[in-house]
Amino acid sequence: MKDLQTPIRPLGEHWGAVVLAAGKGTRMYSQRPKVLMELLGEPVLGYVLDSLEPLFGENITVVIGHEADLVRGACAGRSCRFAHQEQQLGTGHALQVAWESLAASGIRKLLVINGDTPLVTAQDVAAFVEYGEEADLAFLTVSLRDPGAFGRVVRSNGKVNAIIEAKDFDPEMHGPTTGEINAGLYLMDMTRVGPLLDKLTDDNASGEYYITDLVAHGLDAGLRVEGVLAAVAGTAEDYDVLRMLGINSPVELVRAEARLAESRAQEALNTGVLVRWPESVRIGPHAVVEPGAEITGPCEIYGRSVIRSGARVESHCVIVDSTVDAGTSVHSFSHLQSASVGPGCSVGPYARLRPGAVLEEHSKVGNFVEVKKATLGPGAKASHLTYLGDAAIGAKVNIGAGTITCNYDGKNKHLTTIEEGSFIGSNTALVAPVTVGAHALVAAGSVITRDVPENALAVARCRQTVLPGRGTMPDDETS
Ligand code: UD1
Ligand code: CA
Repeated sequence: MKDLQTPIRPLGEHWGAVVLAAGKGTRMYSQRPKVLMELLGEPVLGYVLDSLEPLFGENITVVIGHEADLVRGACAGRSCRFAHQEQQLGTGHALQVAWESLAASGIRKLLVINGDTPLVTAQDVAAFVEYGEEADLAFLTVSLRDPGAFGRVVRSNGKVNAIIEAKDFDPEMHGPTTGEINAGLYLMDMTRVGPLLDKLTDDNASGEYYITDLVAHGLDAGLRVEGVLAAVAGTAEDYDVLRMLGINSPVELVRAEARLAESRAQEALNTGVLVRWPESVRIGPHAVVEPGAEITGPCEIYGRSVIRSGARVESHCVIVDSTVDAGTSVHSFSHLQSASVGPGCSVGPYARLRPGAVLEEHSKVGNFVEVKKATLGPGAKASHLTYLGDAAIGAKVNIGAGTITCNYDGKNKHLTTIEEGSFIGSNTALVAPVTVGAHALVAAGSVITRDVPENALAVARCRQTVLPGRGTMPDDETS
């Protein structure tokens, strides 16, 4: 099936998709539901929905159960629907739970996909639909040297007989293992398959209702059932095979993530990004790095980040949902989250830009500077050891080392405004709400609690006292 270049286009109103995402994911040993485990900063489920949306549009139902609210929350902004599986009694039961509302909404052709298969692409789904469309029930398979814990496809004379789960597999009864396994994608004609749902039982090694038992029931009922072989390979290292496999354990997650990271970095390199060490760079599926940008070493660029042409990101930076404009350097060990950095800026090393940090053109944030919900106007500088939270900082302002905006009074956050051209001396505490007018000067070590007018000099510290004669200290006598 892998050579087929089926076009990816909407399938029409009578097509629907169901994502099985109610399970806990016990083998992941995590508090998080498995479908929310992240690869390159995006949840597993997000990948599945991204692959389905171009084909099924709004006709996508996600079966949720374990940590349902969390899973629903992770789908915010998408148009999918939800079916609630109160108790997770198995994949067959999950389908039963979704069935009624699907049938009522006029869907006749259904794609079912396990929610833990993030590497399956829209192209894979489109090709599977084209191959399996004529069958009453089709499922996607791949061939492995070691079928491991996957459901095993049993055939005689090439014709499918059943899918037998690994725990229930008995070579005496089911014949020798062939290595062909069920990938967890199914296509069904709802009218034909609907009557079979009641035939599912939990009489098996796991005590669960298996969706895979529909295969044997379908054959008994005389339906046309087909196993569509997607790829043949010796091991799960082969990408055409790996893409189709579910992610059940940390090993499988990391293996899949490594392949994704490699292909994203290569893609960036091939389109003209200077990725100097591609093996070490991780670019999320929705992040954009424009041709002409440079990434010098290990970095994570996730979420909706955009790194524009002519920007440079140095080693060990983490950039999430942030924009970095042309001519800007983000120096090593900087962390950016929901920040916007304009053109010609300098950030870091060791800078932290938190949500709402906005750096306008040619501004600078240096080492050990934290910025949150604050704008630095054009050419403004905070070069060392500073916290700027809830602040509006004008053009060409210079913030001295050690300056802190005291934005929080224990209950509320308050704004600090520093107008253009002002100079804030080192180690100043600005107790918000407070405004420093344009071109004012605040003396080093000041604690500013009242507004400073334009062009004024504010000194708010104890006057230095110098007394003549140091006197004799006790230690002096012994030394
Ligand atoms: C399943 C298949 C197996 C196949 C493999 C492919 C069954 C019985 N077995 O096994 O043949 O080789 O996928 O990856 O289907 N889920 C629910 N509700 C439940 C149980 C599970 O929504 O009650 C969801 C899970 O969240 C998961 C998906 O269904 O996303 C698959 O469940 P999982 O337990 O991972 O099935 P496997 O054991 O991998
Ligand atoms: Ca699985």
